[in-house]
Amino acid sequence: MKISEQNPSTIDISAHELGFIDEKRFEKVQTAIAPNSISGSKAVALEIANLIREKADAGENCVLGLATGSSPIRVYEELVRMHREDGLSFQNVITFNLDEYYPILPEAEQSYWRFMHEHLFDHVDIKKENVHIPNGTINKEDISAYAKSYEDTIVDAGGLDLQILGIGRTGHIGFNEPGSSLKSRTRLITLDHITRVDAAKDFVELERVPRTAVTMGVDTIMKAKRIILMAWGSGKASIIKKAAEGEMSTEIPSTFLQAHPNTTFVCDPEAASELTRIKTPWLVGECEWNEDLKRKAVHWLCRHVNKPILKLTDRDYNDHGMSSLLTEETSAYQINIRMFNQAQHTITGWPGGKPNCDDSHRPERAEPARKRVLIFSPHPDDDVISMGGTLLRLVDQGHEVHVAYQTSGNIAVNDHDALRFADFISDYLKSIGHGSDAAGDLFDQVLADLQKKKGDSLDSAHVRQIKGLIRRGEAKAACRYSGLKPEHVHHLDLPFYETGKVKKNPIGEADIAIIRQLIEEVQPHQIYCAGDLADPHGTHKVCLDGIFAAIEQLKSKPFMQDCWVWLYRGAWHEWETYEIDMAVPISPDELRRKRQAIFFHQSQKDGVVFQGNDDREFWQRAEDRNKDTAQRYDQLGLAEYEAIEAFKRYFF
Ligand code: F6R
Repeated sequence: MKISEQNPSTIDISAHELGFIDEKRFEKVQTAIAPNSISGSKAVALEIANLIREKADAGENCVLGLATGSSPIRVYEELVRMHREDGLSFQNVITFNLDEYYPILPEAEQSYWRFMHEHLFDHVDIKKENVHIPNGTINKEDISAYAKSYEDTIVDAGGLDLQILGIGRTGHIGFNEPGSSLKSRTRLITLDHITRVDAAKDFVELERVPRTAVTMGVDTIMKAKRIILMAWGSGKASIIKKAAEGEMSTEIPSTFLQAHPNTTFVCDPEAASELTRIKTPWLVGECEWNEDLKRKAVHWLCRHVNKPILKLTDRDYNDHGMSSLLTEETSAYQINIRMFNQAQHTITGWPGGKPNCDDSHRPERAEPARKRVLIFSPHPDDDVISMGGTLLRLVDQGHEVHVAYQTSGNIAVNDHDALRFADFISDYLKSIGHGSDAAGDLFDQVLADLQKKKGDSLDSAHVRQIKGLIRRGEAKAACRYSGLKPEHVHHLDLPFYETGKVKKNPIGEADIAIIRQLIEEVQPHQIYCAGDLADPHGTHKVCLDGIFAAIEQLKSKPFMQDCWVWLYRGAWHEWETYEIDMAVPISPDELRRKRQAIFFHQSQKDGVVFQGNDDREFWQRAEDRNKDTAQRYDQLGLAEYEAIEAFKRYFF
């Protein structure tokens, strides 16, 4: 398997080198790491397209097994592009989808039938009769016979030439949840709780996620001549490690792919990050040591042998595959001191720089003493959740702090909150003598709109506006509490977000222009933005892409020479200690103030609409993460703080 760094869109993932497992790897299945999910997806699409063309040239049909979910979206996008621009025809293609929720109507917003038509079938020249997707409306008593006929149709078509797969956090392939055997065939299956929690984002709430699904079996999948499993984002890292390196077992059905002779896992660097050869390459073979790898290795060693940096010995290094590092650095003593100082220098109580001080060993510049700071917050509460302590410090230390809320966040407000606010406004208007027309009508209209809304249908524009204003009010209150000037609070309401649905539009020029304009207006010395990349298709990533695109367009402007960009995390995951460039300690008192600022976001508390797969409330997640970072710094032998907010510098 070759992945070309120079031209990532031409990754060669042909199967010719199959069976090859590098002795430096612990993986029991061929694994390719693409530079990013876009190039990985393009490579998969190219292999599919080549196969379709090869078969067409030979006058044969090409039988594809297809998956849904976030993993294959870009593959379908690329296939559609190839159809439009490169003349790729689907006339000889027969498809079988892996699975479908049960019960579900094909036209339902979340059905896999709809997904496949929206992402692929409606845009290519595939024959209708060649598309097969498990039917989510079949009578329960007919399912066994239906499942058998699904299997027979695959066999009659000549078997699957190529099956593409995603992987669930349970390790499922298709919907073959833990417990599925190697011999399983197409059938009705009960979805695992974790799978339902992950699907809740599409169904708005867990209760609406179907409890069962019809899925091809493991055996059905294993009969495919070629299998490609895709995984993008750090959320997949731990299951990819288990699937690729673990023992084969029904507990993790994707491990069965290790026994398939022609399977490749295609990952982006985040999804591959837990593989032994990536996470701890010194345990696998010789390493080319650079500063980042040295930092990572030393921090890992501390945790592994449970010692602070300055107590690591030559023996610790030698016993853990790092003797070449010792040779390079001459001794444990030398490397310990260097790594300790490096970590020590990331800590600062002055995130905007300490005025009148030597800043040669500080993460931020001393000058200018009073900085213009622009904090981008994807949703109206990420600022305080992820960097509330630092925000308070920046304000307290006299910097001109601006916050820009990138999206309205209007889909994440409960209906009963919208009704409560409409009721309040109506009562208020009535109490100051407005006729019941305007006042009473507002409440009645919102009530009627919400009653009309069934299941998964969209909120009316009216209700969306109220929900957006609820979040805007909460954000303004949190900013007031934190001491920001009202004119420094910016609500960007980026258009890409305003679909009213969980599925957003891709970031566009209009979004980038809004971000660019604000940066030009503020001319910041510091920009903070959310570097949460756990979900490659989430709003945080899209918002970050928008900022990076705007920076790219502005970077030649003189004011940008003076602008440093810092990435925060916290709402969904945290930086590892070896990744941190600036660590801002938070005292117990500041932590209380931060919590208070988060509490202003009442619509995001107690039964929030999009809980994600973490049961804790946002303030609890933030505190746990900040306390954990502090503990990890303490374990490295640095000072012991109550909590720490962490940042990584982005160089443009
Ligand atoms: C979808 C399917 C599932 C998904 C898996 C990963 O047809 O069968 O196995 O591939 O749940 O989902 P995403 O790609 O959304 O992370």
